[in-house]
Amino acid sequence: MKSENIIRIEGLTKDYPVGEGFFRALAKIDLTFREGEFAGLVGPSGSGKTTLLNIIGLLDTPTSGSATVLGKEVSALTAKQSAFLRNRHIGFIFQSYNLLPVYTVYENVEFTLLLQKKNREERHRAVMEALDWVGLTEKKDSRPSQLSGGESQRVAIARAMVKRPAIVLADEPSANLDAENSHHILQTMQQLNAELKTTFLFATHDEKVMQYLQRIISLRDGKIEKDTNS
Ligand SMILES: Nc1ncnc2c1ncn2[C@@H]1O[C@H](COP(=O)(O)OP(=O)(O)O)[C@@H](O)[C@H]1O
Ligand SMILES: [Mg+2]
Repeated sequence: MKSENIIRIEGLTKDYPVGEGFFRALAKIDLTFREGEFAGLVGPSGSGKTTLLNIIGLLDTPTSGSATVLGKEVSALTAKQSAFLRNRHIGFIFQSYNLLPVYTVYENVEFTLLLQKKNREERHRAVMEALDWVGLTEKKDSRPSQLSGGESQRVAIARAMVKRPAIVLADEPSANLDAENSHHILQTMQQLNAELKTTFLFATHDEKVMQYLQRIISLRDGKIEKDTNS
């Protein structure tokens, strides 16, 4: 796998069935991302940002065209192969945090490592390090209901980062945060990008997020309108 092509998308079209016909959510997208980019898909609601992130995150497949993620053509993967790749190498951060309410902060971050069958000691080291990255060591025994929105999103960042993924996909991560917390989580992700060389790809229409992005890809009606890298 060439490191400069951690994600390569060529002629990608995504149609959703609607009634008798279909709705074209993405139309012939061409796009590549290099390892370590801190980039964002930007555009109005309905422009196709989430659809594209879901394909890159191996949660969905193109209708036509190609998407190669970490050297694998997504359409060629079995459900089991994509689940494995996702669990090992791709971290997700959503606007709604998606924390498990009955588990502690520590357990929420540890969960993904249980799926990887890491032993207790390895898990402990990795979880404590991830909580330190986001400044939440002291909240490790709290439950999600006891956290602020900003803290919850920092747990979600720790959960995404604990496995040291190659790619983190963040879909509207600041949607439920105030300005101060938005800046805080963006700065944290920027630091992790610099330190760990993790590739970050955002979907956002938030100006506060855009100012941190090294590259902005503007989507409109499923097409790339502008890419600051080209
Ligand atoms: N499962 C689906 N079935 C039909 N249409 C969908 C589905 N998911 C998304 N769409 C449509 O595709 C377009 C792009 O959606 P989405 O990728 O969620 O946009 P964004 O994240 O930019 O708001 C929207 O018009 C949306 O209504
Ligand atoms: Mg969306």
